[in-house]
Amino acid sequence: MESDYLVVGSGIAGLSFALRVAQHGTVIVVTKKKDLDTATNLAQGGIAAVLDSGDSFDSHIDDTLVSGDGLCDPAIVEMVIKNGKSRVTDLINYGVGFVRDERTGKLSLGREGGHGHRRVAHAYDLTGREIERALLAQVKDNPNIILLEDHVVVDLLVRDSNGARICVGAYVMLEEDKVVPFTAQVTVLCTGGAGKVYLYTTNPDIATGDGVAMASRAGASVTNMEFVQFHPTCLFHPLAKNFLISEAVRGEGAILVTAEGQRFMEKYDSRKELATRDKVARSIDQIMKESGNDCVYLDISHKDSRFIQKRFPAIYGKCLEYGIDITKDPIPVVPAAHYLCGGVLVDTWGNTTIAGLMALGETSCTGLHGANRLASNSLLEAVVFAEKAAEYCQQSRAGGLSQENVFDVDSWHYGEANRLEEAVLISHNWDLIRRVMWNYVGIVRTVKRLKLAKTRLTDISEEIEEHYRAYYVSDHMVELRNISHVSLMIVECALMRKESRGLHYCLDYRKRKDGDRYWQTLRRLPNGSPWQFHGEKLRFENNIK
Ligand code: SIN
Repeated sequence: MESDYLVVGSGIAGLSFALRVAQHGTVIVVTKKKDLDTATNLAQGGIAAVLDSGDSFDSHIDDTLVSGDGLCDPAIVEMVIKNGKSRVTDLINYGVGFVRDERTGKLSLGREGGHGHRRVAHAYDLTGREIERALLAQVKDNPNIILLEDHVVVDLLVRDSNGARICVGAYVMLEEDKVVPFTAQVTVLCTGGAGKVYLYTTNPDIATGDGVAMASRAGASVTNMEFVQFHPTCLFHPLAKNFLISEAVRGEGAILVTAEGQRFMEKYDSRKELATRDKVARSIDQIMKESGNDCVYLDISHKDSRFIQKRFPAIYGKCLEYGIDITKDPIPVVPAAHYLCGGVLVDTWGNTTIAGLMALGETSCTGLHGANRLASNSLLEAVVFAEKAAEYCQQSRAGGLSQENVFDVDSWHYGEANRLEEAVLISHNWDLIRRVMWNYVGIVRTVKRLKLAKTRLTDISEEIEEHYRAYYVSDHMVELRNISHVSLMIVECALMRKESRGLHYCLDYRKRKDGDRYWQTLRRLPNGSPWQFHGEKLRFENNIK
């Protein structure tokens, strides 16, 4: 298969990019399950942007920098926020039906933690589903885009060219033991995050960090992996899997209470329930540890029942399925892994450190989120960078800058591989990794637990590499290999950060070290070399909150 652009992933970042570059080139979008199996499709809250005349760029910028706890790149923050309104308008033009005020016809704007203003455009609590619907309809209607479901990318096709690394596509698995090369001028990783490295997550099953793991194996720089965001309010119920209770519920006045009905957030932060996520999740963790209870409760029952049902139809319906009427009862909630603030290091245009390889959305680390993402800034980042990346590609082509055109690539090497007869070899390690990460690399960390995690994960990862070589590849094997690599990167970064900042809270270093502000970049030497990590300091001089 050959195309100008190979896009991996069918969420908001991949589809937005595909639609733009399809104006000047051929695009193949591959997605490992069905087109709707994306984190975008589950997004409830919405997209943050300055959309109201009473709001200002400065206010949104300030909120983003404060939430990022000193590690945002201020120039990127400004660029993204100033582009927000145009990109929301693009989405509306693609057919996204954001909710409007019945009286004024203006966009109805929600509020979330860390925001000083109402600025979240939404489609009630089904915003992601609405965005995904509209973008997929456009993509399927576009003759320059081919969208292929059930195509699992195994690894990137990378070669050395005049001393530089260059990506020329990817090996894609069509079915077990059938892997073929897909070549492209530009390969774009939009595979979402890596919530599945943790036992409990709000993420869909596809969130196995594939893009980050593949880019890293290919030799790209990966940054700030220690900053994993735990969403404070995931529904706590034995039958509910991954169900988020949107932060917008707190934005509309819900309060957090203990099992005894005591409100507790004011003890931890003057912004109470609308503090940033790192603070709220850590406070809940503390309350649960102190009380020994399995959850806390989110209560919005004091609001008008018709308002609740209209504003949060999905949450209302899902909770009712489990016997919880949120118009009357408090909702049992726990924090769960939600968003990867680090990722593949990219520049202002979405370029990684490998030529021909770009990364967008949660897979990338742009500098917008710093040490803790502000709520609803992620859909914004995805659309802004999709546009920037497409502009870069268009200019490169117009300037004749496209990379070498001939891709005589090697076919997939099956070696002496056999069929794996015992699925338990995979499921056992899946379970181990996710438990180690949950128990040792969670919301509150210690150096001792991180070191234990490193030892265990290194052993598991060596075993997985042996299996990977010995057996035919399967989708589960590919994902397992990816979560093992991503977990190790999270642990390595967490061990290297000798302070507490944003989402990384370590009992051995409880304070933020402001004299020593840095991102951590990991790079693995090209294929065949041992897995290596090193820290690289990028310092920001100006305008840091
Ligand atoms: C939510 O609705 O609470 C999630 C929004 C986000 O993660 O930005």
